[in-house]
Formats: sequence, structure tokens, C-alpha cells
Amino acid sequence: MLLDVRDLRVEFRTRDGVARAVDGVGFAVDAGETLAVLGESGSGKSVTAQAVMGILDTPPARITGGRILFQGRDLLTLKGEERRRIRGTGMAMIFQDALSALNPVMTVGDQLGEMFVVHRGMSRKGARARAVELMERVRIPAAAQRVRDYPHQFSGGMRQRIMIAMALALEPALVIADEPTTALDVTVQAQVMDLLAELQREYRMGLILITHDLGVVADVADRIAVMYAGRIVESAPVHDIYKAPAHPYTRGLLDSIPRLDQKGRQLYAIQGLPPNLTHIPPGCSFHPRCPLARDVCRTDEPPLYAVDEDRGSACHFWRECLHDRDH
Ligand SMILES: Nc1ncnc2c1ncn2[C@@H]1O[C@H](COP(=O)(O)OP(=O)(O)OP(=O)(O)O)[C@@H](O)[C@H]1O
Ligand code: SF4
Ligand SMILES: [Mg+2]
Repeated sequence: MLLDVRDLRVEFRTRDGVARAVDGVGFAVDAGETLAVLGESGSGKSVTAQAVMGILDTPPARITGGRILFQGRDLLTLKGEERRRIRGTGMAMIFQDALSALNPVMTVGDQLGEMFVVHRGMSRKGARARAVELMERVRIPAAAQRVRDYPHQFSGGMRQRIMIAMALALEPALVIADEPTTALDVTVQAQVMDLLAELQREYRMGLILITHDLGVVADVADRIAVMYAGRIVESAPVHDIYKAPAHPYTRGLLDSIPRLDQKGRQLYAIQGLPPNLTHIPPGCSFHPRCPLARDVCRTDEPPLYAVDEDRGSACHFWRECLHDRDH
């Protein structure tokens, strides 16, 4: 297994109390596999990703438990230097906002080239040639000229391609893309997502794709992990989830995406808002918003029940949810 995260816990101390932003999260990603992590704003997706990447600011965050096994080694126990080396070459991250992730006063060619100079000991000239190759690989027109341009001279979509090129430069085994297309307009979103999926297959890397858009994951993901209030509430192969969700929250997310085959149908929206993580409701944290909630849901926290061997749901009534197709 490329990445195996177990019982990860991250807290923030705030004026209102301790926010359990990641509360016992576990998932695994194999080489060549894409895991989509889904959930509303504030559910802990980015904090989970930052903990795996080792870029979480501590403080304010505190990792209070769990293991992050990357190629068999627990990243949480590695010393600074070793950890940095893995972060530099073994894994890479693609952020939502390329403009703030790229250096504004350095040409994109120099930024891309620097990766090869620092990590591969290449000459400036050789590194520049590799930078052009990479820009061609992510289909930036006139790459040989544009390599001298600065980030602000590119469109949003082209900038995002450059960030993808940066992430893939050293051929990492794992890439984490945190809402990589959210800032782009819809047609450009699809192009960038297709490119990312194509490169993922070609390089056979493990990819964690964080998104709150269930619509984009159907074609690119192998598995989906749905997060709610710092926990994974459903984890399953993508086809199983689309066929029939085993958690009412997943069902709510699915029912709120527009579908071409159901034009004119009233779109469903999950009622209410996600909880404040300093005051997570007792029992099932989703109960105040759940159409299937019953008394037991207000008192007993559901474990992640095994729906089948590669599928889990943290709902006491997952069977009912699975079989109730028309909501
Ligand atoms: N710097 C911080 N200080 C205090 N609490 C924080 C901080 N960063 C994150 N949190 C807490 O962690 C929770 C999860 O944040 P996270 O950024 O992981 O959400 P997310 O799922 O990525 O949401 P989004 O879809 O908006 O990106 C937040 O709801 C908040 O309670
Ligand atoms: S455990 Fe209860 S409240 Fe929670 S999702 Fe299942 S039915 Fe809804
Ligand atoms: Mg986020």
C-alpha cells in the first residue's frame, strides 16, 4: 500500500474550545489509484491533506493521534530532514490557488527548473530544457517562449497546468490535489481535470482528489471517502456509491448534483448547516440534518460499519439507506 492513514486526529485550540477538525480518519491509497475526498466546507478535507503532506502549521494545529504510513514508514515519527526529503520527492500537492502557490517574482521556467537543479543536481541549462518539456507535457502552447514568463502572465487555467507540472516534475508516488479546479470556470475545469486524470494514469501515481463537487469524481476516481465534521462517514468504490449510497449524507450530496438524465427535476439540498467543530452534536454528528434520524442517533455514535469488504458506512441505518432508492 502506498499510503495508509490510520485513526488520524488533528485539533485546533480556539477561543470557543477545542475543534476536532480531523477525528479518527483512516483511508488508504494504492499506486495508480485515485481516491476522491468529498464533503462540505469545514469538514476537515484540507487539514487531513496538510497533515499527510506535513505542511500543517503546528500551532495552531496539533496532531493528537494516528499514523500516516507512506511506503510503509510512519511519517509522524520521522525526523525533520527525512520528512522533508519525502515531501520533496515522494509526494506533491496541487492547490486551488496557483497564483498564491507560485512565486510571483520568478519566471515559471526558473521555478520548474529549480526542482531539477535542487533535487536532481542538473545544470541550469538542462533544467531549463526539462522545464520546457514539462510545460509541453501539460499542453501549454508555445512552451519554449512562455518558459520566460511570470505566473501573472498566464490565464487561470494555464497557471493551474503549471502547478500540475511543478507537482509532477519529480514524478512523485503520491499527489494530493486540493480543489484543483474550483477557482476556474466550468469549461476550463473539465480540461484541467482531464489532464490531471491522464497524467495520473500515465505516471501510475496515487492521487488524492479533494473536492466538494461529486459531479467531477465519477469519471476520475476509483474510490470515494465522504467526510462530515472531521470523520469519514462513507468509504466505497465509486460505482457502489453512485449505484446506491449507504449513508444519508452521501445520498444528500448525490441528490444535490444536477443530472443530465433528470432535467427539470427539483434539486435536493441537504437542510441545515454543518456543525461547529467545537460543539459537535452527540451521537451521530449528522443527526440534526438527517431525514432518517431516530432516537438512537441522538445518543449513540455510529462506528464505521462494514457494508461489505471494501465499503464502510457510519450510519446505524445503512441497510435502510442502501435499499431506499427513491429517497
Ligand atoms: N487555522 C485554523 N484555526 C482554527 N481552526 C481551524 C484552522 N484551520 C482549520 N480549522 C478547523 O478545521 C476545520 C476543517 O478545516 P478544513 O480546511 O480542513 O476544511 P475543508 O473540508 O477543507 O473545507 P473547504 O471545503 O472549505 O476547503 C474547520 O472547520 C475549522 O474548524
Ligand atoms: S446514524 Fe442516524 S442520524 Fe446518523 S446518518 Fe444514520 S440515520 Fe442519520
Ligand atoms: Mg479545504
